[in-house]
Amino acid sequence: MAFTIAIDGPAASGKGTISRLLAAEYGFAHLDTGLLYRAVGARMMEGVDPLEAAKALRAEALDGDALRTPEVAQAASKVAVIPEVRAALLDFQRAFARRSGGAVLDGRDIGTVICPEAEVKLFVTANAETRARRRHAELLERGIASDYAEVLADVQARDRRDMERSDAPLRPAPDAVRLDTTTMSIDEALAAARAVVDSRR
Ligand code: C5P
Repeated sequence: MAFTIAIDGPAASGKGTISRLLAAEYGFAHLDTGLLYRAVGARMMEGVDPLEAAKALRAEALDGDALRTPEVAQAASKVAVIPEVRAALLDFQRAFARRSGGAVLDGRDIGTVICPEAEVKLFVTANAETRARRRHAELLERGIASDYAEVLADVQARDRRDMERSDAPLRPAPDAVRLDTTTMSIDEALAAARAVVDSRR
């Protein structure tokens, strides 16, 4: 039976980690939809037209590690304002969400646009400084040079672009449960998310 968990929120809010752990916990498939926009952004950096890149995108091409750089993140948030690019990525995400066996999707517009009928909707937030600190630590851990002030500026620029775009802006669905992870450990955030999922099953 299909069961969809939609998790939205700004960059480095903890939504990716929560999504991965929930999927493992319940045996659901997981799609990090940011990777779709990152893949299109990376193609744009190579000179490919973003709409053509979005139409040609194949799930197998989503190499998480290569796409998780600050430059690709900024490119992703630029292609993400183009309505035709978003439309080209819609069917794949919806089909993934309704697969049998359950699915967790995380992004910016899963509860509002991609899966308004999702059984569970979470909106994960944390203040910008906390998110920048987490992203900075994560980049250093992966051996990527990073400067905290730059990471904070990047996160804030992306927040603004994601919230102010007219097509599918970042905002909580009216029926989403909000989870502020600013002062939470991963274990605490996961426990809170599980409690919401268990109440809907
Ligand atoms: O989640 P992540 O930080 O990898 O996403 C990169 C960018 O892709 C975001 O800043 C946002 O502009 C875009 N995105 C989006 N809608 C989604 C997921 C990501 O617009 N569902």
